Amino acid sequence: MTQMIINGERVNAADGRTLDVVSPTDGQVFTTIPRGQSADIDNAVASARAALSGDWGRKTALDRGRLLVKLGEKVLEHHEELAQIESRDTGKPLSTSRADIVALARYFEFYGGGADKVHGQTIPYQTDYSVQLIREPLGVTAHIIPWNYPAQMFGRSVAPALAMGNACVVKPAEDACLSVVRVAELALEVGFPAGALNVVTGLGEEAGAALSRHSGINFITFTGSNEVGVLIQKAAAENAVKCVLELGGKSAHVVFDDANLNVAVPAIVKGIVYNTGQTCTAGSRLLVQRSVYDKVMQQLAQAFSSTRAGTPEMDLTCGPVVNKAQFQRVKHYVEKGLSEGLTIIAEGTIADGVPEGGYFVKPTLFSAPDHSSCLFQDEIFGPVLVAVPFDTEEEAIALANATDYGLLGAVWTENGGRQQRVARGIQAGQVYINGFGAGGGIELPFGGVKKSGHGREKGFIALEEVSTTKTIIHYYGKTN
Ligand code: NAI
Ligand code: MG
Repeated sequence: MTQMIINGERVNAADGRTLDVVSPTDGQVFTTIPRGQSADIDNAVASARAALSGDWGRKTALDRGRLLVKLGEKVLEHHEELAQIESRDTGKPLSTSRADIVALARYFEFYGGGADKVHGQTIPYQTDYSVQLIREPLGVTAHIIPWNYPAQMFGRSVAPALAMGNACVVKPAEDACLSVVRVAELALEVGFPAGALNVVTGLGEEAGAALSRHSGINFITFTGSNEVGVLIQKAAAENAVKCVLELGGKSAHVVFDDANLNVAVPAIVKGIVYNTGQTCTAGSRLLVQRSVYDKVMQQLAQAFSSTRAGTPEMDLTCGPVVNKAQFQRVKHYVEKGLSEGLTIIAEGTIADGVPEGGYFVKPTLFSAPDHSSCLFQDEIFGPVLVAVPFDTEEEAIALANATDYGLLGAVWTENGGRQQRVARGIQAGQVYINGFGAGGGIELPFGGVKKSGHGREKGFIALEEVSTTKTIIHYYGKTN
């Protein structure tokens, strides 16, 4: 049985209750996690607060950085163990989990190296004044993270916060949290003081809601659905704390008639089937210039037909989706696409021999006559790609922007001017030119516009998001 980490201890929920953990591969319960409640959140927030005025709060930036780097090394030492845990919990192919754990280590290494490189400023002011602008931690930071990349999301969220000297309370997703708990245990082993990094497992509407509205927190970061993102921002408003929201996307590939399809086609397929489409940055819409539409669809159909879903050990194109709700959601959207008159151009297969009861779905490629279907609007969070032709550059940009989301985009063309115009025209936090997805992209500032959320994670900029400035104005003139 898994336990939580509060104040440097492995603990059960205060009331002893647990939740079953179901394997996406066969639908069977394989372990339990504590069902944390507001009493557990209270304990975690109190321990984080105490850490800030204790050992943790007294650490230098250099020492915080060293601890993070050590944690990165420890993660790599436990690479295979963590990858196995991640695959068991999420159903990911083992090679995907292995890549995720390397990315997790990179978060600790990158922000470990960054901890002592956030410098202040001096500001010229009036005669006999010295003005310093110093960076301070926000305090107790709350991190509500999703189940699609549990280990990576954990690193992305807590590594910059710890680098800046905050104390963290993490509520991982009830659907997949085992790697998060294990890494928090490793953090204690490498010497993070009690209370610097707490993990409370449990349900979103219980532990998650209790954390987001806790009056003892100073910041919330959340990645997940729009619906819950709105609740988080309201809770943050009640306490007048800052929040960073990453609420998914409906990102478009824009393929022009001069695109290099040898590169584009495999990238487009990977961009939607990787992690079984359960990626906020998935390239889930495809806009193709009409003159090459049939050719592109033909090549994509071939690539889609060879995708296969299987167990983690089979290590195929993708695994199952994470739970029954996601399974039904994907099925619902495929049926919806058909009922709206969209055409299935190609499907992948589910490997022979997958267990009964697993949440396996086929990668599916749809073609649509225009952009009006809800499949172009809703985040499906499954391996479903929907394509539509366009004629002009202006139309392509307008279509790319014709959703409520604005997380990512990609433009495929050899025309240099067009590359820049389209990249700048797409409303999104990141745009790729002749490429897609960055395998973690720890160094690259990331986040949304429009309903994809606000605030930035990853890159050096994240260190600014999880800290604040203080202006110290010092008059040093003679007073007699
Ligand atoms: P969700 O938004 O409910 O879950 C994400 C996290 O929020 C989990 O840790 C959950 O425990 C927590 N949570 C849920 N309700 C909460 C509440 N009332 N207060 C505080 N925390 C709460 O996402 P869900 O229901 O698992 O997935 C539904 C859809 O959301 C997906 O199909 C996908 O479209 C989107 N999603 C997007 C993600 C992204 O990476 N942007 C990640 C996960 C889901
Ligand atoms: Mg939910």
